[in-house]
Amino acid sequence: MDQVLILDYGSQYTQLIARRVRELGVYTEIAPGDAPLAPERLVGVKGIVMAGSPSSVYDDDAPVPDQSVYALGIPVLGICYGAQRMTFDHGGSVATLADREYGRRPVVVSAPDPLFDGVPASFLSWMSHGDSIERMAPGFTAIATTDNGIPAAIVHRSLPLRGVQFHPEVTHCEHGTRILSNFVLGICACRKSWTMERYVDDARAALRARVGSSPVLLLISGGVDSTVAAALLLATLGPERVHLLYIDTGLMRQDESVEVMRTLNALGAKHVRRADAGDDFLSALAGVSDPEEKRRIIGDMFITVQQREVERLGLGDDYFLAQGTLYTDLIESGKGVGKKAHVIKSHHNVRSPLVEEKRAAGRIVEPLDRLYKDEVRALGRVLGVDEAVVSRHPFPGPGLGVRVLGEVTREKCDTLRAADAIYISALRARGLYDGIWQAFAVLLPVRSVGVAGDVRRYGWTVALRAVASTDGMTADVYEFPMKDLLEISAMITNRVPAVGRVVYDVSSKPPATIEWE
Ligand code: XMP
Repeated sequence: MDQVLILDYGSQYTQLIARRVRELGVYTEIAPGDAPLAPERLVGVKGIVMAGSPSSVYDDDAPVPDQSVYALGIPVLGICYGAQRMTFDHGGSVATLADREYGRRPVVVSAPDPLFDGVPASFLSWMSHGDSIERMAPGFTAIATTDNGIPAAIVHRSLPLRGVQFHPEVTHCEHGTRILSNFVLGICACRKSWTMERYVDDARAALRARVGSSPVLLLISGGVDSTVAAALLLATLGPERVHLLYIDTGLMRQDESVEVMRTLNALGAKHVRRADAGDDFLSALAGVSDPEEKRRIIGDMFITVQQREVERLGLGDDYFLAQGTLYTDLIESGKGVGKKAHVIKSHHNVRSPLVEEKRAAGRIVEPLDRLYKDEVRALGRVLGVDEAVVSRHPFPGPGLGVRVLGEVTREKCDTLRAADAIYISALRARGLYDGIWQAFAVLLPVRSVGVAGDVRRYGWTVALRAVASTDGMTADVYEFPMKDLLEISAMITNRVPAVGRVVYDVSSKPPATIEWE
């Protein structure tokens, strides 16, 4: 299968490039950008992208590519740091800008090149850089510039090497998809062979080969990822060997546990265990308000309960642990394939000691770990998972534990559950749910004065969050019709007496994250 290899130098956008290339129907993999390019690694590679980096080429520990990348005869596209690196490695120079360029920036195409086929002579690019190309390297020409005269795109006169200073992978970059498509499908001539049907075949064959005849245990969280992973395991290994463990943390949404059990039964699961561990989680969380501490406690309790329950299942040591981990989970936990990814939040589903132990023993399977969220949905559809589950918004592993801000109590969880259920069912009733990438309510540790009838009320504050996104890496605020917001607010304050005030979160990611903790 044709593929584009993306060399990772630690930028958060690396994942987005991979995502965009896959949307073009071409398989991508991400590899550490400073690792040697062994011939085995290049099988099927028809194009290489050198991605961005938080580093400057002049940093002592700046990641340096295997210099053979420039001489393979395979087309290379440097993006941001990748373009600066390419310039620097060929004898050009890079300078630090007095002001970091961030956001939309006009670009003028100054010379014809297949990279800009079908792209207007001037367009608004998306920039995010502190360094820029100062002196072109010998052999290179600028084919586009920004309005302040900085090279925005470069090409080598005789080698298939190109670089862009802007980020065509970011949706805000005009014609970005066209530029990537020109590179991948035009310049690299990749065939479109990345389809979900093909992924299913490959994933099933890999699963069979990997687990042999051992039992497999999958922890079910209730979300799309673990449900789709369960469907894949069941479809591949049959119901006898697949053991599903659903830990009800008491931090789930309204009626969630009942729906989870119904879904698993519909998928033909035979060995499903539901462990009601709400008391364990809530007592461990008592008095704790620090977000990372809460995540750690929830993660640890998962392990404790999991071990207890697994012992009860009597699977022995030989079983494989399956996880519904996604590509984004890996990168955001600082465990990305490149070594420079930053830790933003510790996602317990990646870093638990049990997972590490199983990983070290080679007994972990993560059949979704190359997929992005919307690809998981597509996979779920191919596997016949119920549409209501497939199109369900993502839900974080620590559940309401990170949506009840500050200390978590049962009462607060109940209040949040009630408010969230009203919010979500109102979105469904209005036909808005499927157009929103993720919506949920958050219970703030803030009480305020209100009045109900003639009585003074001192109630909690609920924040409503709704975002538009494609993969959770970046997110825009969902622009609600004000009428809907007002009605939903009134429904919540009328029906949930503990809530006195409703606010709407108007922060995008970055700089905010989607969840509040
Ligand atoms: P943030 O809040 O980091 O979230 O912008 C990005 C996406 O990840 C989800 N999320 C999690 N998922 N375990 C998960 O499985 C976690 O600990 C976790 N924290 C956040 C979040 O809901 C959003 O979809």
